[in-house]
Amino acid sequence: MLTEPYKIKVVEPIKRTTREERYEVIRRAGYNLFNVPSEDILIDLLTDSGTSAMSDSQWAGLMMGDEAYAGSRSYFRFEQSVRSIFGYKNIIPTHQGRVAENLLFSVAVKPGYVVPNNIHFDTTRANVEHNRGVALDCVIKEAYDTRCRLPFKGNMDTEKLRRALAEHRGKVPFVMMTITNNSGGGQPVSLENIRATRAVCDEFGLQLIFDACRFAENCWFIKEREAGCNAKSVSEIAREIFAMGDGCTMSAKKDGLVNIGGFLALNDDKLAEECTNLLILVEGFPTYGGLAGRDLEAMARGFQEVLDEDYLTFRIHQVRDLGQRLLDEDVPIVEPVGGHAVYLDARRFLPQIPQREFPGQVLACALYLEAGIRSVEIGSLMFGRTENGKEIYPELELVRLAVPRRVYTTTHIRYVAESVIEVFRNKDRLSGLRLVHSAPVLRHFTARLEPLAG
Ligand code: F0G
Repeated sequence: MLTEPYKIKVVEPIKRTTREERYEVIRRAGYNLFNVPSEDILIDLLTDSGTSAMSDSQWAGLMMGDEAYAGSRSYFRFEQSVRSIFGYKNIIPTHQGRVAENLLFSVAVKPGYVVPNNIHFDTTRANVEHNRGVALDCVIKEAYDTRCRLPFKGNMDTEKLRRALAEHRGKVPFVMMTITNNSGGGQPVSLENIRATRAVCDEFGLQLIFDACRFAENCWFIKEREAGCNAKSVSEIAREIFAMGDGCTMSAKKDGLVNIGGFLALNDDKLAEECTNLLILVEGFPTYGGLAGRDLEAMARGFQEVLDEDYLTFRIHQVRDLGQRLLDEDVPIVEPVGGHAVYLDARRFLPQIPQREFPGQVLACALYLEAGIRSVEIGSLMFGRTENGKEIYPELELVRLAVPRRVYTTTHIRYVAESVIEVFRNKDRLSGLRLVHSAPVLRHFTARLEPLAG
């Protein structure tokens, strides 16, 4: 049996609430879990980003932070730690991943340019579009089938990529690849697929840039699943991957095991210089990039810790165990289970609720009411939009249970599984929601809803 490869030194109390209290909380929050104070939540699975528990070494590192404005000791330790894994020449710290994206796309994306990726994460897409570029998804088609069990369902469709590059020749600044593919269920990409993608980039003389947020989890899957990789260490696999690219954007809030931080790494000196000039304008001097010295110190240690294979094995199995418990009771989820989250398939879970009545949001609210668990809807509330007076709904209607790193115990995870199963048993009692307030963009953050019935 796998046990947590760490023990608890500091505890943070979490509060139990009654169903009546939760009913009042969710009503006041307009049936939107983003509006619920975290105090009223027992288990928070809203995101795995910035929610990790730091180690004793990272906390000790905070005291060692060098807060010099320029040339901080902590920066050099951070740079050395990043280079030992990613290998790139220029390493630019930022306070989170989307700033790295913003710097890169502001410099490299001109109006009408096209940026291919397996699937762009929301902030990546938004930053491309903000620069009036087109964010193009080229993932294999199986990624959209929630029941298709492929080992590397995050893979790029290299033929689709090649066609896109031929069609948009001269308008593609670089190719991106997201490891693991968050928007497709946290699914990994294989080494073989990265190699094939690299070959396509070479045909067109283009750089390959990774969105590396969950790189360690992706490497672990390669070690587990890819022929000939079992004998390699996760660190070796990471170095092999990044050697095939020309740079990366990184949110250290995921596989950096910190609460804030990120970076942009590039081999291309000219591109790096232009991004650095912008960094100075919006984030700060190049040796701190919007962070305190202590944050750089915590990241330097986090990147090494995340490659610990006992940690990764436990991490991936904890998420997988949650998924398996649900599958054992026929709860519909995205298969296979990815690295950082279990995604409930709300369309199959609540077939009686049409997309216009937000089945994903109904399910997320029901789980909160049942057990004080916060998840996030990734469906018609998040991605639905009105075009020429007509509502357009996304293909997938999901609820993500993202598991923070090193935070919850096996008992917590079992509680989550039991609670989801309980909601599933009583699913016929659930009914739809309707929107009563919504903002013109990113409406899911501030929307207010109310139940259609009682
Ligand atoms: N790329 C991917 C694949 C991500 O999942 C995220 C963040 C980012 C980039 C942006 O990083 O938040 O540090 O600016 N994902 C979080 C999530 C927010 O909940 O999945 P950031």
